[in-house]
Amino acid sequence: MPAAGLGTRLRPLTSGVLPKEMLPVGRRLALERIVDELAASGIRRIVFVISPAKEDTIRRHFGERGADGVTFAYALQSEMRGLGDAVLRAEELAGAGPFVVALGDAVFEEPAPGGLTLRLVDAFSAQNASVGLAVQRVPRERIGRYGVVRPAPGGGAGGPFLAITDIVEKPAPEDAPSDLAAAARYVVAPGIWDCLRRTRPGKDGEIQLTDALRTMLSEGGRGVAVPLGPGEVRHDIGGLDSYFRAFAAFALRDEEHGAGLGQWLRARLNHSDSDEEKSSA
Ligand code: UTP
Repeated sequence: MPAAGLGTRLRPLTSGVLPKEMLPVGRRLALERIVDELAASGIRRIVFVISPAKEDTIRRHFGERGADGVTFAYALQSEMRGLGDAVLRAEELAGAGPFVVALGDAVFEEPAPGGLTLRLVDAFSAQNASVGLAVQRVPRERIGRYGVVRPAPGGGAGGPFLAITDIVEKPAPEDAPSDLAAAARYVVAPGIWDCLRRTRPGKDGEIQLTDALRTMLSEGGRGVAVPLGPGEVRHDIGGLDSYFRAFAAFALRDEEHGAGLGQWLRARLNHSDSDEEKSSA
């Protein structure tokens, strides 16, 4: 779970001791929600990639053992050289087989906890794939902010997963190969280590995971993409607007306080609507 990034988009909140991955999202921390999701999908060993500055918070908080027999290990990324570099830091600790990459700043609302990652791992195994990724539909006007998959012709679009042949990072909307954007959960075969080592930094000086995934696909690896299902929502907590929404979404679902918060919000919004009516009258 890469969680070493600087969180510059959330400054000054993240300038001091608080990593964005440790922000509360409702009554759980973002990383706790992701750990819960991965544990529910059947994962029992989690390697956090953290910066030295986050040892005091993330490592101290999680320790070596979680609930349900989950164990934690920590890899250090000392310089922020991108997501691909962060994943590469975990090589020694990740074991010999395929593994999941779950971005530490994306939480999912799911009707069945862990359901998305479980479907992703199942599709990856069933298709004997080298690269698997969760994907979400994004309107054309916003697609250029994401990694976008190229579906294989006749590759099963409309089913529980689709075959893909490429991923294009931040395409111009008119060049986007689909409206399916990478959604913060990946599963990769161990061949990724070699591809990551061969990946040179991109324009921004960062080693991109997407570039290594492209190498795997271009060298004959099979790719699968699993679209988010009904009721599955991805929340990115790395920007204030989407973090606020993530907090609100989970707080509103809270068993104890959600209904009360909903009533309060409705009353408050109605009240401010009538204030606006008064002031515009
Ligand atoms: P982001 O690019 O969203 O995180 O990476 P960031 O770099 O912290 O964001 P800004 O742009 O500065 O606000 C997605 C995930 O990958 C991790 C981040 O911690 C985040 O959870 N990451 C990113 C690393 O672990 N190392 C990196 O070098 C970059």
